[in-house]
Amino acid sequence: MPLVNLKEVLDWAEERNVAVPAFNIDNIDIAQSLMMAAEEERKPIIFAVGQGAIRTGRLELLAGVVKTLAAGSSLPVVLHLDHGASFEQTLACIRAGFTSVMFDGSPLPLAENIAQSVLVVRAAHAVGVSVETELGAIPGVEDGIAHSGPAKVSLSDVETFIHAVDTDALAVSIGNAHGMYKTAPKLDIELLQKIRNLNAEVPHLVLHGGSGLGDGVIRTAVSNGIRKINVATEIRLAYLEGLHSAAGSQDIYTHIAAARNSIIEVARAKILLFTTKADERGNL
Ligand code: G3H
Ligand code: ZN
Repeated sequence: MPLVNLKEVLDWAEERNVAVPAFNIDNIDIAQSLMMAAEEERKPIIFAVGQGAIRTGRLELLAGVVKTLAAGSSLPVVLHLDHGASFEQTLACIRAGFTSVMFDGSPLPLAENIAQSVLVVRAAHAVGVSVETELGAIPGVEDGIAHSGPAKVSLSDVETFIHAVDTDALAVSIGNAHGMYKTAPKLDIELLQKIRNLNAEVPHLVLHGGSGLGDGVIRTAVSNGIRKINVATEIRLAYLEGLHSAAGSQDIYTHIAAARNSIIEVARAKILLFTTKADERGNL
């Protein structure tokens, strides 16, 4: 089926009080393996193209791969720009057929983040593309980009931002971090609840740094309003571990199959965890 936009799948998630995974893709095999995992679980999937893939010239290639995968599936598939670095980059992705773009203005002063995000929303919404924005730079390193901001977003900043920006989704920093956690992460669920309960039209909330979060932490975050969870590191590690497990073989397709199976195992577990309410399995 044709690609859908981010708002459509996050509305689906909101209705069911679940979350949808956004998996970063870096090559064809990772993308195809993730699509197979979504097919096995019969759930929507968000393919995220990040700055590492873009920096190595894969924007158009990966957009073509995802469009082909979506055309061969009956599942809702989103093609999403992750951590968009500029207004111009979001336009380039929209031009390439992305149905969702993130503009990451979190390193900017609030007023500048608002001004830039408003621009991106105006352009994207004019052509039916969804927008994710970010408040409170998420610590850790992602695709070689290190963020070191306050570990948590301020409630007043969120209130100011969502009154000014008609964003479809908002990535919030509530104690989450990019990459594998060095110590057990403690998400500020009280802050998440306050954000959810703001007297405003609160956009869908996004949790970055999904790798390494325990099942209980995920379930608590989802039951308190997280609707999109980004996962990159665990998928990349599963891919590499799969390849290494086939190190003794000289057959390229043995390597590819090992990496694929390793990704599918990790991705299916994430899909099931994110999209299953505590008491039932919500199917499409
Ligand atoms: O933007 C991508 C995600 O936030 C990935 O985070 O590598 O910790 O799973 P992660
Ligand atoms: Zn992220």
